[in-house]
Amino acid sequence: MTPIYQTSTFVQEAPAKHKGYEYARSQNPTRTALEAAFAAIENAKHGLAFSSGVAATDAVIKLLQPGDEVIAAADMYGGTYRMFTKIYSKFNIRFHYVNMQDANNIKQHINSNTKLIWTETPTNPLMNITDIAAVAAMAKHHKILLCVDNTFASPYLQNPLDLGADLVMHSVTKYVGGHSDVIQGCLMMNDDQLREQLYFIQKSTGAVPGPMDCFLVLRGIKTLHVRMQRHCENGAKIAHHLRNHAKVARVYWCGFEDHPNYNIAKKQMRDFGGMMSFTLKNDSVDEAKRVLSSTKLFALAESLGGVESLINHPATMTHASIPQEERIKNGLTDSLIRLSVGIEDVDDLIEDLNQAIG
Ligand SMILES: Cc1ncc(COP(=O)(O)O)c(C=O)c1O
Repeated sequence: MTPIYQTSTFVQEAPAKHKGYEYARSQNPTRTALEAAFAAIENAKHGLAFSSGVAATDAVIKLLQPGDEVIAAADMYGGTYRMFTKIYSKFNIRFHYVNMQDANNIKQHINSNTKLIWTETPTNPLMNITDIAAVAAMAKHHKILLCVDNTFASPYLQNPLDLGADLVMHSVTKYVGGHSDVIQGCLMMNDDQLREQLYFIQKSTGAVPGPMDCFLVLRGIKTLHVRMQRHCENGAKIAHHLRNHAKVARVYWCGFEDHPNYNIAKKQMRDFGGMMSFTLKNDSVDEAKRVLSSTKLFALAESLGGVESLINHPATMTHASIPQEERIKNGLTDSLIRLSVGIEDVDDLIEDLNQAIG
């Protein structure tokens, strides 16, 4: 097993002559092994590990200069939106939020300052799908960098670099780590120059994970494929069950044939995963909160992608940083419930949802 190099500095042979490792903010052997594994699981040439998913996102934005513009998905993880609007807008970087379910919506926002397209597919929490290959073609044509947040799909279900993206970002905290015991992020890329720029940002601004966390993620990756298979199986069963439930109004899951972008999901994903959201026919926030507080196996918690099932209220939890008006405009209502379906016995999970919904 890869050793945990609990080491901040490394003995050198002579002044400025090191043996491959000098100081652990720049490199650590456990992290090096993990970064190679990150590259391998996304069919990438390079991988870089960060101390969180938002730190990985932050590194990508630090490639930009004041005056640059970014086109970002209108419906994405609330923390990404918060970073863009509250932190980087202050540095004169301009963000355009666009509904990317139709890739053509992006075109009208492209100008000579556009340097980055940021997309997330499937989106958190509405499971909207963006056509990665179509956006990548547009980005290439205009020489704009495309970064895909691939957290919801995981590298097992979707590989954006193979579809033409320049960069993939993961909240490793989720499926890649898989056990809800570590916060981490990563970037994968093929371009050597882009890797050098991002490595420079990684070591200069220091958002690196510790060796123990790297070890845990290396271990998580070994079971990613097996876990994902069960997440997908359980997810499909629960999505169909909820859809047929008398008290459920709508289920958001990209594996339904009548999902608006089902054909794109089918084209770019190997399966549809275990993330979904739903609303109740009794559309009151109080009723949603009652259900959220009534599950016994589904734990009420933020995050997703771990082996244990979680239930979440995006409006007050994961997406509370998006103003209500913005959220509702994008379809994220106050009564929406999100599920991260784990790998437990699916009949137990269904029974739990049934008793909670009543
Ligand atoms: C889709 C997505 N991207 C990015 C992040 C941020 O990652 P982290 O929490 O590891 O910083 C999250 C976290 O919930 C997420 O769901």
